[in-house]
Amino acid sequence: MAVVTDPVISTVKLSKVYRSGIGMRLVSALVDVTFDVGRGEIFGFLGPNGAGKTSLIKILIGLARPTAGNALVFGRQARDAQVKARVGFLPESPYFYEYLTATEFLRLSAGLAGVPGSEVAGRVNSLLKLVRMEASAGVQMRGFSRGMLQRIGIAQALVGDPELVILDEPMGGLDPVGRKEFRDIIVGLRDQGKTVFFSTHILADVEMICDRVGIIINGRMVNIGGLGDILSDDVQAYEVTVTGLTGKFRKVLERVGDSAIRSGDALLVTVPDDAGVDRVMAIVREAGARVQAIVPRKRTLEDHFMAHVGGKRGA
Ligand SMILES: Nc1ncnc2c1ncn2[C@@H]1O[C@H](COP(=O)(O)OP(=O)(O)OP(=O)(O)O)[C@@H](O)[C@H]1O
Ligand SMILES: [Mg+2]
Repeated sequence: MAVVTDPVISTVKLSKVYRSGIGMRLVSALVDVTFDVGRGEIFGFLGPNGAGKTSLIKILIGLARPTAGNALVFGRQARDAQVKARVGFLPESPYFYEYLTATEFLRLSAGLAGVPGSEVAGRVNSLLKLVRMEASAGVQMRGFSRGMLQRIGIAQALVGDPELVILDEPMGGLDPVGRKEFRDIIVGLRDQGKTVFFSTHILADVEMICDRVGIIINGRMVNIGGLGDILSDDVQAYEVTVTGLTGKFRKVLERVGDSAIRSGDALLVTVPDDAGVDRVMAIVREAGARVQAIVPRKRTLEDHFMAHVGGKRGA
């Protein structure tokens, strides 16, 4: 695991156990979660439903106490009031005062976040612009779609100009254009030196912008690191494209590969490893055919994620 030199978030063996339902059944939402997030990082916290993402985030913003272990933010206990002033937060299901307009809501949030009165109007206007909601600024929020509310929620998280932004499923309700805009906002925050921690199960968005990713399954952080580390040289298979085959050799090659797809004169053979490639090459030579391309197929984050989730869900 990479060493984080200037951690903004630092947890040690964090555990959370809930008692719920009839008989007070114990639910382990977090088990020995230890990780750091460095200053200026975009950290993606990835996990399926019920994995423990919201439980961890609630501890980080001081809304819940861990059952065991420790969570430090800016080197202090997460629930410390001085910490809260430096953190912006978007909850999973934000509550909005429906009868307020977007501008009124953000001005109220700015006041609560301690923004000086003289700066409130300017701050709110620039945030409305950032989340592309200027056109609806004067509209009561009860008429907003889920994606519009999400945009206002993101603006609200940024209103106090926080050094650390913690967002629980920020892309929920956003369409593909909205997700792209959101990614741009996050990268812009990093450019300003801010630290961003967000949870999601949208793998593609994590893949595009995160410096590091933590994968949580059933309360355990099963993998953490740069995407390069998590996916490093993780070649799953090779796809070899062969042309100039006669019928007999085509049949031999089709049997050698895990799968074989014909496309006109070409045959695309998939083999699992180097030895498979060698076998294909030997047959190609014997057949007097030609190799057009050998493409290593690397694991995507999605493959990786599914391999971890497989069989572990709902345990
Ligand atoms: N207040 C609570 N009381 C009892 N159990 C809870 C409570 N909050 C969460 N849990 C349980 O803890 C586990 C983790 O839940 P959590 O909400 O942290 O997951 P999540 O990763 O945020 O899921 P999602 O992607 O659905 O938001 C689940 O089994 C959930 O049922
Ligand atoms: Mg959640």
